[in-house]
Amino acid sequence: MMNLDLSVSLAGVNLEHPIMNAGGTCKRLEGEEGVEGFLKTMVSAVVIGSITVEPRDGNSGNVYSYQDPFSLNSLGMPNPGLKYWQEHLPEAVRRCNEAGKALVMNVAGFNASDYVDLTEMALGGGADIVEENLGCPNVVAGNVQKPVISFDFDLVEEIMLRVTERVGADARVAFKVSPFSDPSALKRMAAICNRYAIVKALVTTNTFPNGFAFGESLKPIITPNNGFGGVGGPAMFGIGLGQVVQFRAALDDRIQVVGVGGISTGKNVRDYLLAKAAAVQVATACIERKGRVFNVLLDELIAVSSVPRTN
Ligand SMILES: Cc1cc2nc3c(=O)[nH]c(=O)nc-3n(C[C@H](O)[C@H](O)[C@H](O)COP(=O)(O)O)c2cc1C
Repeated sequence: MMNLDLSVSLAGVNLEHPIMNAGGTCKRLEGEEGVEGFLKTMVSAVVIGSITVEPRDGNSGNVYSYQDPFSLNSLGMPNPGLKYWQEHLPEAVRRCNEAGKALVMNVAGFNASDYVDLTEMALGGGADIVEENLGCPNVVAGNVQKPVISFDFDLVEEIMLRVTERVGADARVAFKVSPFSDPSALKRMAAICNRYAIVKALVTTNTFPNGFAFGESLKPIITPNNGFGGVGGPAMFGIGLGQVVQFRAALDDRIQVVGVGGISTGKNVRDYLLAKAAAVQVATACIERKGRVFNVLLDELIAVSSVPRTN
């Protein structure tokens, strides 16, 4: 079907091509929006998560909106929790691998111990890669928005250290971060990653925190956190690409970069690959256009990759 060899190796795992879904699009085993549904799509790896230790209902009210060119969400990571996946992960891995797809488990904690326990569960259950989500901006406890872990460098280091102690430096672990608008903060994050052998890949970027939009009623379009939510979708493309280029320059060669943000065309994917991302992930376009978007992205990527480059 594919004439072009688009295969990549991510954290030592072979993928048929570089396109996968992103965190927030697949939380369960069953159903069209679960692993079962993604098995029918062209993703090369199914990304499950974010999964937290305890099951979460997520935030209430209107939690997602798309207003071209951006999505705004404050889902607050609804998911069935660690015990659910302890039970179902081996079956999910078996079905993914049978379909020639890898399984990436994206986990999110509220302290270092959560990340340690979730990582151990995910690797124990057979996940090919664990992705530590350090970038959710939408966790609200009471009326207080929790800090985003990506910006707390001491906590980031503690997580890297403690996860290494539990599962070993050779484990296939990636870290997903928020966009850094301060270039020196980005370099500091890269320097931390360079110090920890467990960091096999850096996934950039999660949503941009605290975007805002008005609805037709002239009120905030989403309900939680006074209407603030994470920004995704096409508006994030140039930002995500800029993060990839900066991280690629600042990270040691051994750490791969996965590009996320604003992908809606095969050319967007091609551009992330040109920026030396090893793979890419897609959230908003997957939510808006469902699983068939991956066929389109792959076809378009093949079409633009077949065009001889003049530079
Ligand atoms: C509705 C929604 C829910 C999301 N939930 C998660 C999540 O649970 N874990 C995570 O790591 N990222 C989550 N994200 C962030 C996406 O994975 C992605 O990093 C971000 O949206 C940028 O990609 P995009 O422009 O393709 O949407 C979510 C995004 C959206 C739109």
